[in-house]
Amino acid sequence: MSKELNITAICGSLRVGSLNRMLMNSLQDLAPSGMEITESPSIGDIPLFNGDLLAADGVPTSITALADAVAAADGVMIVTPEYNFSVPGALKNALDWISRLPDQPFAGKPVAIQTASPGPLGGARVQYHLRQVLVFLDAMVMSKPEVFVGLAGQRMDTDEGRLVDEDSRKFVAAHLQSFAAYIGRYGG
Ligand SMILES: Cc1cc2nc3c(=O)[nH]c(=O)nc-3n(C[C@H](O)[C@H](O)[C@H](O)COP(=O)(O)O)c2cc1C
Repeated sequence: MSKELNITAICGSLRVGSLNRMLMNSLQDLAPSGMEITESPSIGDIPLFNGDLLAADGVPTSITALADAVAAADGVMIVTPEYNFSVPGALKNALDWISRLPDQPFAGKPVAIQTASPGPLGGARVQYHLRQVLVFLDAMVMSKPEVFVGLAGQRMDTDEGRLVDEDSRKFVAAHLQSFAAYIGRYGG
């Protein structure tokens, strides 16, 4: 890879023991050389979207910080759980706020999605709901390959907080490699 790529990673779970955060924290080890992956500002402190709040106080600083990180990145990786077959409220709330910004940081931005779940499907269904939301934001979401880490509790070292299952690590590494190529093709 010739160009350095700076990726901001958004975790859709707020939980301390999150399996998705463990997956996210494993990405740097598996990334191709030249790809730097950093966690985005937290989505945990963002107030619930309310148009009155926006009208009275403007955009919260937590959203400005997140939007700036997205705008500055070459690509965004969203690592999220599936809640009731869809997008967790905290993540949807962050995206709803961002959608109100006059300068859209996601517009034309390469985005990739990974999900982890203790269930066998690995959060496959949330990926399609999240893609739908990202369509409105004009994000460029990579279609393939897809990464769903099913039975995730068995594939992590939960003490170390890392993905250890070898096959899963290969899939994740291949996903990151494809994302680098995707950014090279379509990124700004
Ligand atoms: C409100 C709620 C809804 C959930 N819905 C789903 C679901 O639709 N599909 C699924 O695979 N797991 C579902 N789960 C289980 C989560 O995948 C599991 O709690 C997972 O560990 C959450 O991700 P995290 O470990 O990164 O916090 C749900 C959990 C919660 C709390």
